[in-house]
Amino acid sequence: MLQQARIRNSDFRSKIMSAEDAAALISDGSTIGMSGFTGSGYPKAVPLALADRIRAEHARGNPFRVKIWTGASTGPELDGALAEADGIEFRLPYNSDPVARQRINDGRMDYVDMHLSQVAPMAWQGFLGRLDTAVIEIAGITPEGDLIPSSSVGNNKTWLDIAERIILEVNDWQSPLLDGMHDIYYGTALPPNRVPIPLIRPDDRIGQPHFRVDPAKVAAVVATDAPDRNAPFSPPGATAEAIAGHILEFLTWEARRAGLPPSLLPLQSGVGNVPNAVMAGLIDTPFEQMTAFTEVIQDGMLDMIEAGTLRVASATAFSLSPEKAQYFNDNAARFRDRLILRPQEISNNPELVRRLGCIAMNCLIEADIYGNVNSTRIMGSRVQNGIGGSGDFARNGYLSIFMTPSTAKGGAISAIVPQCSHVDHIGQDVQVLVTEQGLADLRGLSPRQKAEAIVARCAHPAYRPMLEDYMARAARLSHGQYAPSLPSEALSWHQRFMETGSMMP
Ligand code: COA
Repeated sequence: MLQQARIRNSDFRSKIMSAEDAAALISDGSTIGMSGFTGSGYPKAVPLALADRIRAEHARGNPFRVKIWTGASTGPELDGALAEADGIEFRLPYNSDPVARQRINDGRMDYVDMHLSQVAPMAWQGFLGRLDTAVIEIAGITPEGDLIPSSSVGNNKTWLDIAERIILEVNDWQSPLLDGMHDIYYGTALPPNRVPIPLIRPDDRIGQPHFRVDPAKVAAVVATDAPDRNAPFSPPGATAEAIAGHILEFLTWEARRAGLPPSLLPLQSGVGNVPNAVMAGLIDTPFEQMTAFTEVIQDGMLDMIEAGTLRVASATAFSLSPEKAQYFNDNAARFRDRLILRPQEISNNPELVRRLGCIAMNCLIEADIYGNVNSTRIMGSRVQNGIGGSGDFARNGYLSIFMTPSTAKGGAISAIVPQCSHVDHIGQDVQVLVTEQGLADLRGLSPRQKAEAIVARCAHPAYRPMLEDYMARAARLSHGQYAPSLPSEALSWHQRFMETGSMMP
């Protein structure tokens, strides 16, 4: 049945095989480009079969590890299963799987954390090496032999183009109505042949609905029927609601101040509960006919579409809770004209983010008093997830907003510190900082003015006197007065946490 309905090309139908047989085509040391962006559109059978094979080889005393490239994070059947089997020697460009994270932080897996817009261009430029195999989930194959993309696009276009061998997973769980929602742009080129990307509005379509593929490279087609798996959203608590409230108030003020239209500017929203709470809150604001030019479509955006607040969302992937993913599948007809999925070098393209004037809203791990932001490394050394698309949007947006609860680990950690233990976003790329305590608009402020605003408005009251004390002593003892600092003390809060379990003296 699946074969007839989804695989409408006889050449591809003749290549149908089991996931085990497809996984047997992959050898030790291979580099594999997998589909997947958040818990959407990643292959769900071949990676599991490969993990079994790796375990069996390890049991026989044979080495077997592979290098994995993806769009971003994936699901437990991919990163989780392969990391569990100790089968990943190298991973890029983003990971949020806890088992893989542990292996990276134990030094047992190499990890390259990259701006998501840069992955495809770097692959074409050859910086990442050769791609042996692409394993790509799709929603179907047309009679002409083109591929209908699945619930994420990510880097699939690039993996299909550059891989030497291709394994396709055709997932019957994905809605057939995904067909037509994608916009696959084949006009990118490397300098000196690069031309402007002809996208002026978030809802412009500049490409084609399907991936092209060289059938001679397709070695296997595997039929699956398994759901995407994203983490569920928890209902926004008081902290998330307070952060969302500050942002919504600020956007209303900013729209009036800058004379922005009722549709505001295209929204980019990072992943997680807090950005999702911001989306939910936008339903009750005077804004209307809004657009999103973003990386992922989250639950809140579907709610905004249904409420009539959001006219269209352009992204590279769905990132829906399990309930919302099922809801989308059951009601795809209602949403399909409002959603466009693109390759991630387009969804996150700095040229487009700058031209469209996106309002970038992302979460952080810690910020320092001068507005530098750490999004990735706990205590400067343990990677949490990765920079993802936050840099693509933060540097290039019309507005760059970063948000966080003011403390972590039950108050043992201040999210506002004298100096970040690692910097992903320099102060120049951070225009607005928000915690549940308040919002600091840092535009046009000098470093000393930023420090005053951040400590007064964003720091938790328990840590505010410590920050004020640091600033006062730095003002007396610092080498310079542009951005006063005390190098030997600036990271002492982190050192104290590592030694005592708390940043509090
Ligand atoms: N110091 C130490 N640990 C901290 C911390 C800090 N300042 N702030 C948070 N943490 C810990 C939390 O306690 C939690 O630990 P746990 O997993 O042991 O419970 C963990 O970090 C994650 O924190 P949480 O509050 O659950 O974060 P989140 O799910 O809202 O994610 C980021 C926050 C920053 C990790 C996440 O947004 C991210 O990865 N961002 C970078 C990529 C990005 O911005 N993508 C969007 C672009 S489109």
